[in-house]
Amino acid sequence: MSSANLLIEKEAAVAVITFNNPKALNALTVATFEALEAALLELADDQAVRAVILTGAGEKAFIAGGDIGFLASLDVEGARQFALLAQKVIAQIEAFPKPVVAAINGYALGGGCELAMACDLRIAADTARFGQPEVKLGIIPGFAGTQRLARLVGKARAKEMIFTGEMISASEAGRIGLVNRVVPADRLMEETRALVATMTDKSASAIRLCKEAIEQGLEMDFARAARYEADLFGLSFATADAREGITAFLEKRAPEFE
Ligand code: CAA
Repeated sequence: MSSANLLIEKEAAVAVITFNNPKALNALTVATFEALEAALLELADDQAVRAVILTGAGEKAFIAGGDIGFLASLDVEGARQFALLAQKVIAQIEAFPKPVVAAINGYALGGGCELAMACDLRIAADTARFGQPEVKLGIIPGFAGTQRLARLVGKARAKEMIFTGEMISASEAGRIGLVNRVVPADRLMEETRALVATMTDKSASAIRLCKEAIEQGLEMDFARAARYEADLFGLSFATADAREGITAFLEKRAPEFE
């Protein structure tokens, strides 16, 4: 399933997708998005895979943004189409029925920061740097970064990052809630895998419904979102995992989820 610039490895219940064009700091191209879309579709259906980790090849970058050489070739409609393609694939991460965790090993800039923001959790190496530098190129974020950044860190902090185009450190990203955790660079994958393991041993069907409740519910008004949660809560009782989880608790044993 791996392609030239996207490596996919499966390790037990976890698939690791690596953006693999380190010479260009893993800059995003149309081909990368097409490969990512195909990989997500396949991994969504792969019952053996319970979670996905996204990371970047090399020590320098997670993803340093959209490929600026490619951007140079775009006209108005081409740029709009590139943004729509990227937005469609990035939205697939939020719709993906299993946890997707970004292990951010270096620069997460422009489209790279935008892609990371669609992941369920972000773990950053202490050497990582984050930014939306588009204004330095005379353009704006186009992969829904204006929306996701403002929702994640608040309007004022998002405007500061987007209007200045300046990078922030991993620790600052942790402080403002852009990332969940900051870990030593040499322990990034180990820490990310350990965190993911605390999800993959839980009920996959329950996590899927939790993700849906959060993703869909945050786009609704509170009362509707709470009702939607109640519907999904009801639905969870139709699963074998609910029977197993509740029975196991009452029988004072560890559950064995499907
Ligand atoms: N696109 C294409 N190539 C890129 C790239 C990018 N976004 N970022 C880095 N590269 C390439 C460089 O051109 C360079 O290639 P060569 O060796 O062939 O010259 C190679 O990667 C290494 O980069 P640098 O020599 O620049 O490395 P550095 O350590 O001096 O600087 C950096 C690192 C600060 C991240 C710098 O590379 C940089 O500023 N990159 C651009 C970041 C950026 O502006 N990202 C936003 C792009 S626009 C976007 O994402 C919007 C969108 O699509 C919606």
